[in-house]
Amino acid sequence: MCGIAGYVGGKNAPVVLFDMLKRLEYRGYDSAGIAYVGEDGINIPKGKGKVDEVRASLNPESLMGQIGVGHTRWATHGVPSTVNAHPHTDCTGVFAVAHNGIIENFLELKDELEERGHSFKSETDTEVIAHLIEEYYDGDFLEAFAKALGKLKGSYAITALSTHHRDMILVARNESPLLIGLGEGENFIASDAPAFLGETKEAVILDDLEYGVVTAGNTAFYSLKSGRKLRKKHETLSWSFREAERGGYHHFMLKEVHEEPDAAVNALKGEKELRAVCDKISSCRRVYFVACGTAYHAGLYGKYLMERLGLAAEASIASEFRYSTAGSLNSECAVIAISQSGETADTIAAVKAAKARGAYTACIVNVVGSSLTRLCDDSAYTYSGPEIAVASTKAYIGQLVSVALLSLESAKKKMKLDEKDFLDYFDELKNIRERIQDILDSNEIRALAESEANTRTFFYLGRRENYPTALEGALKLKEISYVHAEGYAAGELKHGPLALMDETVTVLAIMPDDELKRKVESNISEIKARGAKVITVGVNKDIRIPKTYPIFAPILAIVPLHLFAYYISVLKGLDPDKPRNLAKSVTVE
Ligand code: AGP
Repeated sequence: MCGIAGYVGGKNAPVVLFDMLKRLEYRGYDSAGIAYVGEDGINIPKGKGKVDEVRASLNPESLMGQIGVGHTRWATHGVPSTVNAHPHTDCTGVFAVAHNGIIENFLELKDELEERGHSFKSETDTEVIAHLIEEYYDGDFLEAFAKALGKLKGSYAITALSTHHRDMILVARNESPLLIGLGEGENFIASDAPAFLGETKEAVILDDLEYGVVTAGNTAFYSLKSGRKLRKKHETLSWSFREAERGGYHHFMLKEVHEEPDAAVNALKGEKELRAVCDKISSCRRVYFVACGTAYHAGLYGKYLMERLGLAAEASIASEFRYSTAGSLNSECAVIAISQSGETADTIAAVKAAKARGAYTACIVNVVGSSLTRLCDDSAYTYSGPEIAVASTKAYIGQLVSVALLSLESAKKKMKLDEKDFLDYFDELKNIRERIQDILDSNEIRALAESEANTRTFFYLGRRENYPTALEGALKLKEISYVHAEGYAAGELKHGPLALMDETVTVLAIMPDDELKRKVESNISEIKARGAKVITVGVNKDIRIPKTYPIFAPILAIVPLHLFAYYISVLKGLDPDKPRNLAKSVTVE
């Protein structure tokens, strides 16, 4: 997810564009840039870093122009760098393009264009759009733009400039949002309303496979399918700026939980990268998942999954691993680091300790180009998009799906899983998106949280692959509502913690439809006999999750527990996005 912006009107475009990018920074923040039409043609000041850092280095107040496009990046193709920052141009620098989305056939298009003599500067998919416009341009900018769009497969929101047509910005949308803010003698273009809400609430919202022309005083939009001119409705946007920044949700965390269905399917985009890691670990004697916090819970899930599929695997907390297990590693071992940020100091240190012992290292991360991706032998991405809230939610879903896919690929490669079973599991992984959406649509988690808002002690119980779910559910509650909660292996309760059970305690018991369900039921009876309250999570339980393969139940069961923690935090008047004492990325040991 990236943020794109455009402006045409009487103000100084470079300044307006950086103001707009700042309000879109939550959509991506590893590099930023603008393209504006000055006296000497198109200028493209851009750089690596957050919007404020790039702005300080470029001083837009000193630049002059009244039309331009801008971009703040969340890298998907090509590491964060100045050369990969948007906007991008064609060979001649006559056309400039900023893009949000993924052009799935960009390599094929790039090969064709290179064969026709085009030379590329960046590693991005976006750059092919500028060269396609150049290829088709014969005097009509809009026609060349439409032809270029016709070649693209994938998702895009695009703004395009040309020195031959200095009064217009071309726009197009397919699966990535794009709005046009309608001003007086000026118009704004953006991925999201926060970029221009302070200037105007009147907007046109493009739909998929629509494109158009925006000038200071006019707009015109067309259907890419039919070429026909469209009569687009002018909408009045009702959100406040802050609400718009969070897509209408009160907090980023709630927005990101509601992005968990997409996170599940986006993780499957990493299939090729995960298969490459699978090829490397197939000859290893043992696989170690290493991570911290929520990411560690994903690693623990990976351990259970690999073992359930007949493979040897371990999961370790990074800050422990580096001082203990790392000493026993050798070249027959594989260490797989899991990290949303790719910058967690303990995890980085654990990988360094593994490398020092000759182990193979890989990472499963969300941030392209992060430190772990530069340190490990191989990288795979969860493609979860920017996660702003300190509490990790959608990135955890991405990690679980990635780890599940890696485990299934490994089991298939080691002949522990036949092709048919692999495909059955893979098909269900593709359905997880709908299952999560079903959970979000069908549970009254807020009401449940209201009934528990004053409870002082929570236990989360799970068995086998749902033991990590119990740990994650408890962590989420602790870190954003400051209430004591413990994740526990259900079978362990009678070995001590049962002494804590009384009417002041609430227990959330994760019990999917599997052969251990009866065991959890007997744990629940022991708990209820001591007066504690029990909330069950499972098929047709207090918190309902749809039926799926038992090995995928943790991907579903955690969704309502994320929401439960969110609502308890909000009911206590806390800010779930910025919990006390915590940071989004712990870059200190
Ligand atoms: C998760 O909600 C926490 N914010 C924290 O435990 C986090 O998962 C941990 O610090 C690891 O971060 P990483 O995934 O960026 O490595």
